[in-house]
Formats: sequence, structure tokens, C-alpha cells
Amino acid sequence: MVSLFRRRFLKQVSTVAMAGATQALLGRSLLAQSQPMSPSDAARVYVDSRRMIGALDRNLFGSFLENLGRAIYEGIYDPASRLSDGNGFRTDVMDQIRKLRVPIIRYPGGNFVSGYNWLDGVGPKADRPKVLDKAWNSLQSNQFGTNEYMGWCKAAGTEPLMGLNLGTGTPEQAAALVEYCNLEKGTEWSELRRKHGYAEPYNVKHWCLGNEMDGPWQIGHVTATEYGLKAQDSARQMRAVDPSLQLIACGSSGPLMPTYLEWDREVLEQCYDYVDGLSLHRYVGNTPEETGSDSTKYVAINLTMDQQIEETLAVCDMVRGHKRSKKQLWLSFDEWNVWYRQRTGDAVDGHRTEAPHLLEEIYNLEDALVVGGLMNSLLRHADRVKIACLAQLVNVIAPIMTNRDGLFLQTIFYPYSWGLEYARGSVLRVLTDSPTYEVAGMGQVPYLDVVGTMAEDGKVSLFILNRDLAKARSFEVNWHDKAPGQVLASWVLTGDDLKAVNGFDAPRKVVPQALEKPTTSGGRSKVEVPARSYSVIQWAS
Ligand code: AHR
Repeated sequence: MVSLFRRRFLKQVSTVAMAGATQALLGRSLLAQSQPMSPSDAARVYVDSRRMIGALDRNLFGSFLENLGRAIYEGIYDPASRLSDGNGFRTDVMDQIRKLRVPIIRYPGGNFVSGYNWLDGVGPKADRPKVLDKAWNSLQSNQFGTNEYMGWCKAAGTEPLMGLNLGTGTPEQAAALVEYCNLEKGTEWSELRRKHGYAEPYNVKHWCLGNEMDGPWQIGHVTATEYGLKAQDSARQMRAVDPSLQLIACGSSGPLMPTYLEWDREVLEQCYDYVDGLSLHRYVGNTPEETGSDSTKYVAINLTMDQQIEETLAVCDMVRGHKRSKKQLWLSFDEWNVWYRQRTGDAVDGHRTEAPHLLEEIYNLEDALVVGGLMNSLLRHADRVKIACLAQLVNVIAPIMTNRDGLFLQTIFYPYSWGLEYARGSVLRVLTDSPTYEVAGMGQVPYLDVVGTMAEDGKVSLFILNRDLAKARSFEVNWHDKAPGQVLASWVLTGDDLKAVNGFDAPRKVVPQALEKPTTSGGRSKVEVPARSYSVIQWAS
């Protein structure tokens, strides 16, 4: 069974990681009261609106809905629920996602897609087969398929990022799905869609050529050369149907993979000229192997995402040079999140039931700080990372959790929602001069991790992770060209207990609080952020 296979594999890579991991450092005693600052703690952030990293593509704040567990059924689609509309869409969940304005959502997988026959999920619902999903050992009713997803995306105000089966599926089947979705009429597959009652094509722009094909757990896993050739063939057939597509090849599914980067290089040698982007994935956790279960290291882990992005870009650009290509690829970080508790045993095995409770990770405050840090890392690379998907969106390793009576918002919901609301325009090349602390295996790590954006209308937002688990930290923002106007928003996510969680019984234990608005004079703003916190501040122009 694939999930068992993956479990064994993960154990193996964890052992490798453990060799480099260190013993727990300072531990939870750091959660003591905030201490006052000393002059040596002074920090500065320099902002100059003439220095930009690049334009921010809002698709950097995409998400992911895999046809797995209760993400779709009981998550976004539940015809039996009193909370659903006439299409069976959960209106409470839809409202949250609409309010968030999530720009793009990947579907239908994930590991699921590598054994999925899209034809099972179209046509009259009564005729759709109930099948065994071998990735998650679950039963798939197929009552929700491509047309339902397109309808849901329209209602939710988002774009689909469609995943293709390059595991058991063929390039021909991938091209047929493009034809089903994007051609108006007059061909076999476009006419099938019309026969199913959908006259208008969907014009889906972004497509993932398979999922984690480097992983031995993946259905249809092959070597990099074989996958690269299959991706090339799929891309050629798909573009023959619709030349306007944006295609993403499968890169490495994480830096602990033994084939990390070598996989990417070889895949791109085969398909560089045929694709537009390369995917990468990353899940992090406060585990004995990864962090020594040490929160001071855990809150620094986003720096390893910066490294992963930079290494992957180096490979893309190396192959570009090798091919003397004019085209520069972008990255699709199409799965990223915290995920380490619900990763084995019954948490990943559906026991051949429908809509089982799988991967229902409950997130605490420190996970939310880490998610904020990971967002900062993505923003810092906005010049090359054009799509990223918080994995996932509902019930499965998700910011939104449902039950029959409603939903609650997990801790990680808040940093994600701030990115969606306040990151606008272009990412500033912010310079942060911060005191540091020693992290085993990572060297000196700055307490403050700050990124900024500037919108077309001149509004500036700063996103601030304070990794200091014991002390509040102050810093001065030096505005190099011009000081900003009034503070429009100032929020912080913090608390005394790094392990505090939200739940149906106590949904507001970890929620944003107002952060004292910084004052500005003489081109300088004074900001103070509490210990163990993630904050956003937005100024008018
Ligand atoms: O998001 C959960 C799983 O994580 C996805 O199915 C897979 O792509 C990744 O390993």
C-alpha cells in the first residue's frame, strides 16, 4: 500500500536527518516572562521604495484541495448538510474562502492524482463508479469531479491549478482532459463536456504535470529521465490542444530526498523547453529529527526554505545555460506547510471508507509563527516563485476545519490571511539588521525576520517574525526615500503558550490582537513586537 510504503521511506530519510540534527537546546523554559531590552538588542530595518525584489504575483498565496480525507466531502462539498447550497457546496466554508480571496487552488492532488481517472468524475452522478483510491486506501465516490470543481472555483472566486495524472495516466489522457476543459466544441472531448451539460469551456491556464514523481511512494514512480520524457510528451500533446497553457514540471518533493536536485536537473534536461515552471514541496515539523523538538530551532526553519528555493533556482538556471535557452523558468511551490503529527498509521490510512478523517493536523501557536516565517521566505523570492500553495485548505493539514455544525479557524489561518490581505504590489528589498542567536546546525540566526511589500497606491506592509521566544524586540524602520503616512493596520499573533491551539470547543484561544501602532518622526518609525510573535503593519503612502 502506498501510504505504508511512504511511511517506511520517511523513516529512512528521518534517520539521515537525525544524524545532522542536534539535541534540544534551551527548551520551553524560554517561555518565561518577556524580559526588558538592553541597548545591544537594537535592531534596524531599512526600507527604500526604489529597491525592489520584484512584482508580487498573488498566486504566491494559493492553496490546495486534494481529493483526500474530508477536504472535498464534508469540507467544501456536502449535499446532505443544512449548511450547503443547491450545488452541495458548504456555504460557510465558501464564505471564508471568498473573504480570503484565495487566488488559485490546486486540485485534485497530491498523491491521489497519480491513480485518478478523470473520466470517473464526469457525466451523470448516478453512473459514476465508486473506486478504491490506492494512495490513501480510501473509497472515492466520484460525486465531486472536474465540472463540480470548476463550478466551485467560480463560486469561490478562485482559479483552478489542475493536477494531471502522470502516474497511471498517459500523455494522451492528459491532453484529453485539456481538450475537455478548454476547447469550445467540435472535438471528441469538448463535445463530451457539452453533452455533460457544460457548454462553455473553462480555459484553465495552469497545469501540474503529475505529482511528486520522484517519490517511491508515488503511484507510477519512475526515474527522472523517464518522467522528464513523459512530461515532455504530455506538454507537447497538451499544447497541441491549447498553446496558451502554463505548464509545471515535477521537481523534487523535498530536500531530504536522496535524489534532491539531481532529479530536478535530469527532469529539466528532458523537458526544459516544453515547460514554464518547476514545482517544489516542503513540509516542516518540530520533531526530534528536524529540530530536536527545540522551538528556538523550529522558528528558524523557514531559512531552510530560502535555501531550498535558491538551490532549486540554481539548477533551473544551470540547465538553462546548458541549453542556451532564452527562457527563464519560475517556481511553483505548490505544497508547503507544517505537517508532522498526523503523518503515520490511521492518520494516513482511510481503511477503505468514504471521507475518512485523514491528516487532520491541529496547529498550535508556534506552527502559526513558522507558517508566517515560511510566507516571509516565499515573499523574499517573489521574483522567481510565481505560484505557491498552502497545503492544504480545508480539513486536511488545513487552516479551516469543519464539522456538521460549522467550522473553526486554526492558528495558521491568520498569517496566511494577512499575506492575502496586506501583501500587495511589489516586494521590497528590505535590509534587516538584527541581533542573532545560535541555532545548532544553522549558525547565527537573526531574531527578526522582516519582509515588506509596496502596493501601486504606495501602501507599505511589513511582515515581522520575532523568533525570540523570551523577549519583546524593538526596531527602528529607517525610511530611505520617504516616510510613510498613517498606520492603517497593526496586528500581532502571539501568546504565553507556544502549544496553545484552537478547536471547536475553544475557537479563539489563538487569534490576532491589536499591536500598538508604531510612531514615525524624522523618517524613522519605532516598532515593538512581543516575544514569540508574527505581526503585520500597514502604512498609508
Ligand atoms: O498534501 C498531502 C500529501 O503530501 C500530498 O498528497 C503529496 O503530494 C504530499 O506528499
